[in-house]
Amino acid sequence: MRIADILDIKASRRTGKAEIPAEEVALREVGDVVTGDRLAPEVGEGEPDHGLRLARRWAPEVERYYDLFLKRAEDLRERVQAKRNISPSPILSDLYRLINDDLIEEFYSYAMMAHQDKDDLVTHGIDVLGTCLVVGVGLKLDIKMLLKLGLAAVLENVGMYRVPERILHKREKLSEEEISSIQDHPRESYEILVGLGEKYRWLADTALGVHERMDGSGYPNGLSGEKISPLSFIIGLADMYTAMIRERPHRKRFRKSEAIKYIVGETKGLFPLGIRKVFLDRVSLFPVGTYVRLNSGTVGCVIATNRKHAIRPTIQVIHNAAGQVVEEEEILNLGDNPLLYIAEEVDQDGFPKMRFQKRTVA
Ligand SMILES: [Fe+2]
Repeated sequence: MRIADILDIKASRRTGKAEIPAEEVALREVGDVVTGDRLAPEVGEGEPDHGLRLARRWAPEVERYYDLFLKRAEDLRERVQAKRNISPSPILSDLYRLINDDLIEEFYSYAMMAHQDKDDLVTHGIDVLGTCLVVGVGLKLDIKMLLKLGLAAVLENVGMYRVPERILHKREKLSEEEISSIQDHPRESYEILVGLGEKYRWLADTALGVHERMDGSGYPNGLSGEKISPLSFIIGLADMYTAMIRERPHRKRFRKSEAIKYIVGETKGLFPLGIRKVFLDRVSLFPVGTYVRLNSGTVGCVIATNRKHAIRPTIQVIHNAAGQVVEEEEILNLGDNPLLYIAEEVDQDGFPKMRFQKRTVA
């Protein structure tokens, strides 16, 4: 089956600046939200500086978008908890700018690196958004579908804000009642989003289907096959992956390569083949921010992926082969070093934490 068939949309190629339909232009109601000159604080600020800065330079706009979506998500949480109205328009406007600025790939990489030691519903939502967008680009979704996917990724989990904090942060085994309160969150999301009116009914339906699986094993309704929308499947897969790679109160985080291996092996009947394939193509085995040990014993952090050879990314050396911290910036492109290869992914604990470096604009 072709991806376009699965998605029931006309695949389109994005060339240069994306065209935006008049309908979406009308949704751009807010002002110029990304032109503020404030930069997001460096991640790791206030922590001991090991003298190691990540050699990858991030465009300041990427940090601003990241900060912006964090704020939008925090605002959503506040509104949902206070039972106030929520509005999709400002989110659509931000998404439009992010897509039109061609920063999806960088935004995704940045999200994967940011808040590595922190997981809450807000940062998780941004992880899901970044992952969905890179998968959406891989599926060659047109601008309208990308906007729909992004909006649904930001809003699908709003029902979780109604689950009591004590359940979300509980370390012990959850009772049946607590599990059912969590598994009820897609219904809560649906209820909140359906309040946005008929125009956004698709959004409520998408949120309701995010935890449903192709074989009927999901929740809350045990739907199967084509009753679940492609957008729900994309978000569901992104949600599963990004939840696995972050620490949770009751478990350690999975290494990214372990999470990917799990998805390759264990999700066959759960998500459509086309979506799984594109996901595995776009979400690389060793994404930016992964700590790896080479066959030489050198340990480094991935700073750029290699689309042609997923297992040969570019790394910044942290420890040399003798186990000493490397203070000078040392970059290794494994694509140019045939004798070196990644022996294993390692836990970042115990190694100096890499800090972001802003890209200065000339
Ligand atoms: Fe969810």
